[in-house]
Amino acid sequence: MSSMEGKVVLITGAGSGLGQNHAVLLADRGANVIVQDINSDGVKETMSLVSGNSAKSYAIVCDVRATDEFTNQINDAMRDLGNVDVLVNNAGISSRQRSIEEIDDEILAEMFDVNVKGAYVATKAVLGGMKEKNWGRIINTASIFGMAGTGAGSHYCSAKAALIGLTKAWAKELAPWNILVNAVAPGFIPTPMTNTPGKEAIRAERNKTIPLGHEGEPNDISHAVAYFASEESKYVTGQVLSPNGGIVI
Ligand SMILES: NC(=O)c1ccc[n+]([C@@H]2O[C@H](COP(=O)([O-])OP(=O)(O)OC[C@H]3O[C@@H](n4cnc5c(N)ncnc54)[C@H](O)[C@@H]3O)[C@@H](O)[C@H]2O)c1
Repeated sequence: MSSMEGKVVLITGAGSGLGQNHAVLLADRGANVIVQDINSDGVKETMSLVSGNSAKSYAIVCDVRATDEFTNQINDAMRDLGNVDVLVNNAGISSRQRSIEEIDDEILAEMFDVNVKGAYVATKAVLGGMKEKNWGRIINTASIFGMAGTGAGSHYCSAKAALIGLTKAWAKELAPWNILVNAVAPGFIPTPMTNTPGKEAIRAERNKTIPLGHEGEPNDISHAVAYFASEESKYVTGQVLSPNGGIVI
């Protein structure tokens, strides 16, 4: 896999789980990493993990929904590190299982604001620089639930399906600037989002339904992100790569 040396990478929701793992892996490969999250302790933790590896790193604590604050902070980071070459739209929320009737306006709006609007906010903040360079990579984070649905969580499924739709649309819109847009759609990966205490029995039962017989690990997703961020994927755009152990094919 090619080096990420000289590239500036922004990862949203990088204070935990998959985003943190992406930050560490891309920093290991020489990227300058901008670590963004709403959770300041998480940002601190990730900064301490990347500081030894990353050529340069930069911390941003803010809400990915807060357009002006987010954009201002990214502009400050880009004045320091240079324009963002690779954006990983990773910040997301899930929720407990809910029926259609239980999903009220507020719950629905929050789900779409973080997962979908957040991707727009971050993308708009970095797009000008990518267009100027005629080079860019945008990697969105969908989910197997955005591909296959589930019986109780249509707000999460539809937000993740929206990310697949916008990946395809942005890929076509941004191709003239050599900006490639792809998505990862993780299967079951233990992270603070999914690894809730007391769920061990449910997870063990669920593993029996996964053709490979077990959950994935964060690196299974980070390697897909690293591929989309690299020169090796230069002819790949509008695609969804779903490391999921065969559960959704
Ligand atoms: N872990 C899985 O099995 C799995 C499966 C499919 C998809 N995903 C997706 O992968 C992404 C990462 O999930 P994870 O499992 O690492 O979860 P996580 O909860 O560990 O990480 C999500 C991060 O996003 C941050 N975040 C939440 N709202 C934010 C906001 N408004 N502004 C900025 N940051 C915000 C959180 O603080 C957290 O650090 C999410 O988009 C999730 O939907 C995860």
